[in-house]
This record gives sequence, structure tokens and C-alpha cells, in this order.
Amino acid sequence: MSLDAVLARIDRDLDQSLERLFALLRIPSISTDPAYADNCRAAADWLAAELSGLGFSASVRPTEGHPMVVAHYPERDGTDNRVLFYGHYDVQPVDPLELWQSDPFEPRIATRDDGSKMIVARGAADDKGQLMTFVEAARAWIAETGGLPVAVTILFEGEEESGSKSLGPFLEANADELKAGAALVCDTGMWDKDTPAISTSLRGLVTEEVTVTAADKDLHSGLFGGAARNPNHVLAKILADLHDAGGRVTVPGFYEGVAELSDEVRRQWEGLDFSAEEFLGQVGLKLPAGESDRSVLEQIWARPTVEVNGMIGGYTGAGFKTVIPSKASAKVSFRLVGDQDPKTLVEAFHDFVRARIPEDCSVEFESHGASPALRIPADSPVLAKGKTALQDEWGVEPLMIGMGGSIPIVGAFRERLGMDTLLVGFGLDDDRIHSPNEKYEMSSFHKGIRSWARILGELAN
Ligand code: BES
Ligand code: ZN
Repeated sequence: MSLDAVLARIDRDLDQSLERLFALLRIPSISTDPAYADNCRAAADWLAAELSGLGFSASVRPTEGHPMVVAHYPERDGTDNRVLFYGHYDVQPVDPLELWQSDPFEPRIATRDDGSKMIVARGAADDKGQLMTFVEAARAWIAETGGLPVAVTILFEGEEESGSKSLGPFLEANADELKAGAALVCDTGMWDKDTPAISTSLRGLVTEEVTVTAADKDLHSGLFGGAARNPNHVLAKILADLHDAGGRVTVPGFYEGVAELSDEVRRQWEGLDFSAEEFLGQVGLKLPAGESDRSVLEQIWARPTVEVNGMIGGYTGAGFKTVIPSKASAKVSFRLVGDQDPKTLVEAFHDFVRARIPEDCSVEFESHGASPALRIPADSPVLAKGKTALQDEWGVEPLMIGMGGSIPIVGAFRERLGMDTLLVGFGLDDDRIHSPNEKYEMSSFHKGIRSWARILGELAN
């Protein structure tokens, strides 16, 4: 049977697959920092060249931001039954660099005492290792059988980690070219290293930067201290006011559109073998900090949050400076669930802040993107095929799980292209994505490739 031959080839060629992944990992495609724009372009070029080499018609498409890669196999004729695969080639910044045990852009394989291996580099899990599982699966099918079992379009984005600003306009402008029966996304995780999962919900994300200005210049706190308003204090108070003592968000209207879990989902989640102590313990914590009347799994998968991701204000360099700064700012993000409306929420947040700004101070907002939460319908046909393929590969039934993270494009696929998405990924909670020493399990990479090979086979049925 051809699937068996494809899987055997994947096993045989694993070292070459790794070499290709390493080449991609060496490109520092940090999307949020303009200094790395050329590297983002280089990663897009590299991917397009790889896909062309496989026989895809691939091109790098410029956007206002970093380019997209679009590739078809075979060339579109408008009639075929096709799937769209999405991944992102951009990565998060690497700071703090001193906490890395090796160069983030010089990938290496580390072997544990038990013989298990992991790939260590920025982007190993998020998302270069993951997107390459699909590319390598496609490679094996083409090499072994002369083609893919189902027609495929690939879309690689370079701005996922920085808000996907170009995505909406790009999808709109290229809707006919990108539209497919379903979308496949490899940017999520497994339940544990032996148990695959399909994510059926993603939280939405709103990112807002707020800047409070008090005096028209920085002041000496010996001269003005006591009389002049300190914007650090104003902002800190506002940020502290965002939660009540029970961990609930206090912005008026915040919980509108947030549904309670259905009995079925609640039962299913309660049946999962999840330990809050272990989950927090792996990062050196033990006290759940969210809404005190919710389980930890509910907190991370099904409840909306507000987080302060960064605070800037006053003197933060070495030594000390007795300054009353003129400005203070914070980067604040909201994770959304259910039907919470990003626009309404942004307004409510602005009102909340404005109401707390003293008369002689001012506030400005800068939006870095807003996307709603998403649920994948349980009866979607691709979901059933994904389940079968994953069960065959891993020998255990895949779990249907929620995902606390956000992937802005998945909502856009539904809204702009009317497509359902299959969210299958092989990341683990301890992969340290966005953190120093990011890693991807070798088993995730290897069995991830095999899983996609099987899913492609299933999709042809
Ligand atoms: N791969 C992640 C999303 C994710 C996180 C999936 C955790 C599963 C578990 C994705 O690349 C990501 O980090 N997204 C950002 C979105 C953003 C910067 C616009 C996020 O969720 O913060
Ligand atoms: Zn990602």
C-alpha cells in the first residue's frame, strides 16, 4: 500500500528532514523587530525554494509587512477538491539572551538520560518545526508516489507573532486563490508526549498599548515630588484596578458573550488526567492566580483574561535616578472566549482607563490587533478524518482539547473564506515557546510528519 511506503520513506529520511529544518531554524526571522526584516524575507525565500523543489508552484508575495508564501500542488484549475495548509515562519524575539544555553539560531539536538531527543532553537516548536512536519510529509508522498493524495495549497505567514496585520487584506485580495474545502493548521499542542490532540477552541486576542502623560517633561523628584502627578502611579493604579480580589476582570461588560461550559464539555474535561499542581509546578509556581471559583483548566482554556505584558516608565537603567517621568506606558492584552466582541471590548477598556485619568493628564492608545475567539464545530468532516489518522499513528484516541493561545488566521479562514479548520499540532506544554531554550521533541517532529502523511491519505478518502 502506498501509505506504508510513504511512512517507511519518512523513517528512512528523517536525518535529511532534520537538516532541512535546521537550515530554516538558522534564519533569525523575528517579525516584531524591524531590524530582522531581511531575515524574514530570507525565511520566506527559503520556504518558497523548498516548495518549488518539491514541484509546487510557489511564490513569495509582498505585503505591507513581511511577505507571505503561497504554493499550489498541483497548479489550481478551480475544480479540484483542495485543502489549505497554514503555518508561520516568523518567531518571537530571543531576549533574555543570557538565559539561553546555546545560540538560539544555531539549532542543536539534546539527548536526555533516557535516550529521548529534542531539538533546541528559537522557533523549533513555534512554528518552524511544526510547519516542516507538513512539508516533509508532502515531500515523502511526492517522492514515493509521484504526487499528493489530495490537492494542497500552502500559505506561510511571517507576521503571526506580531499581530498578523497584513493577513486580513491579503486573504481578501486573494480569496479565490486561497479558498479550499478546509484549512489545516499545525501550530498547537498535544495532550502529552504520547497522546495526540485536536484543538477545538482557541482564545481570541486584543492587544492594546496605553500611554499616560503627566508633566510635559521629566522632573526632578526633589523639586516637584509631592506636588506633581507621577504617571507611573496613575497607570499602576489603573492596571491594578483591572482585577478584583477574586481574580475577576472589572471592566464593565467584559463578560458579555462568555458562555458557561456545556455539561458535556465539563464532564469531558473533568475526566482528563490533569493536575493543576504539576502544571504550575513545572514553572515554579503553585497558587492558581485566575478567577478563584474556576478550575485551572477552565482558566486557561475557557475563561477570558487580561494580562499586563509590559510596563515602561521612568528610569529603568543601571543605578538610580530620582525622576518623575513625563510618561508611562503599558502593553495590555486580553484573551477572549465565546462571543466576546473585540471591538466592544477595546471601547470598554478605553472608557475604563479614561475614567481614571486625572484632569491635567492625558492618555493615548495604540492598537496592535484584535481577533475574536473561535470554536471548531464538533461535526466538521475534517475533524473526523484527523481523528482517524491520529489514532492510527499514535495508537491512542486523540483528545479534543481547548487551546488558551491565539492564532489570528483561524477566525479569518471562517469569516472571510467560509472554511473550517483542523487544528493539529505536536507541541508540548514544556516546549518553552516564546521563552529561552525553546525545544521541540524529536518524537513530535518524526511522528508529526507521519501523522500528516496519514491525514493527507485520509483526506483523499
Ligand atoms: N503557536 C502560538 C499559539 C499557541 C500558543 C498555540 C500556545 C498553542 C499553545 C502562536 O504562535 C502564538 O504565540 N500566538 C500569539 C498570537 C499573537 C502574538 C498575535 C499568542 O497566542 O500570544
Ligand atoms: Zn505559533
